[in-house]
Amino acid sequence: MRKALITGVNGQDGSYLAQLLLEKGYQVHGLIRRNSIPENQTARISVYKEIKENLYHADMCDMSSLLNVILKTQPDEIYNLAAQSHVGVSFNQPTYTTDTIVKGTLNLLEIIRLINKDIKLYQASSSEMFGNSIDDDDFQRETTPMVPVSPYACAKLCAYNLVGCYRGSYGIHGTNGILFNHESPRRGTTFVTNKVVVGAVKIKKGLQDKLLLGNLDSTRDWGHARDYVKVMWQLMQLDEPGDFVCATGRSHSVRDLCEYTFSQLGMNYQDYVEQDEKFMRPQELHHLKGCTDKLKGVVDVQFEYTFHSMLDEMIKHWSDKL
Ligand code: GDD
Repeated sequence: MRKALITGVNGQDGSYLAQLLLEKGYQVHGLIRRNSIPENQTARISVYKEIKENLYHADMCDMSSLLNVILKTQPDEIYNLAAQSHVGVSFNQPTYTTDTIVKGTLNLLEIIRLINKDIKLYQASSSEMFGNSIDDDDFQRETTPMVPVSPYACAKLCAYNLVGCYRGSYGIHGTNGILFNHESPRRGTTFVTNKVVVGAVKIKKGLQDKLLLGNLDSTRDWGHARDYVKVMWQLMQLDEPGDFVCATGRSHSVRDLCEYTFSQLGMNYQDYVEQDEKFMRPQELHHLKGCTDKLKGVVDVQFEYTFHSMLDEMIKHWSDKL
């Protein structure tokens, strides 16, 4: 039986990935950061019952805690999904963001180098690393210059380069999945998709009057997390590690997101959405759209969701829940 260790198993991606790996017959282990309210830490793990004996408290910044778990579990594959992952928050907590991402990834790489170089590592790299660079055809791809515009993206770029460095220097099987935005009903509600969906549903139900947002003009290439964790696993099965963009190749603005979500609930977003300086970032990444030609050359990419079917699922989820 193959063994996988997921850092950030309680996040959106970690929870979907744990489910997928169990279906594939893996023994799944997960790391979670200690919190004074433990229920909050496991709420998103849909397969909690199946893996609860394999959950460990550890911190990405505490190398000995990671070493202990890795020695104990002896994983074949490690999926590094843990991070302070909110771009806006990274402007207020740049040191913490950098520590979790850079020190955390380096800790894993060092442990792999020192104890077992056969352990494969998947690194959650991000389209945010491109910043405002864009190729002439309006897409970002693996060769597009990476010029990050947030502390989060700077940290992700450093971790990305560390994975490449350890691959070249020590032959470690480290793969960077450069994932564009990916969402689902399990997305944290401070990220814009779920913030808009939850806000619109609450307004519809009379629980809220208006929705305060930041920049409505930025565009993102939004896919579904359930589709993207399949790609993470596929990439780990390749003989050769590498760096791969995963995206839908379609882009929508935050305004489009509002327009669709509110109209699905029979409302006009212009009547309820207001811009608030508080949600503007000191520097914005304006446009993301990913090209997956390289990815499609090595794995069979089959996405189940479109932007609209993903939003429909999220709207239904919150309409039932609230
Ligand atoms: N969060 C948030 N809240 N974003 C807002 C708001 C708001 O009220 N109003 C407008 N936006 C805009 C942001 O300025 C940004 O341009 C866009 O909505 C998307 O914001 P997020 O959903 O927070 O995602 P992100 O693109 O910054 O980062 C996400 O995607 C990255 C991959 O590109 C995160 O998941 C990162 O962890 C991930 O690496």
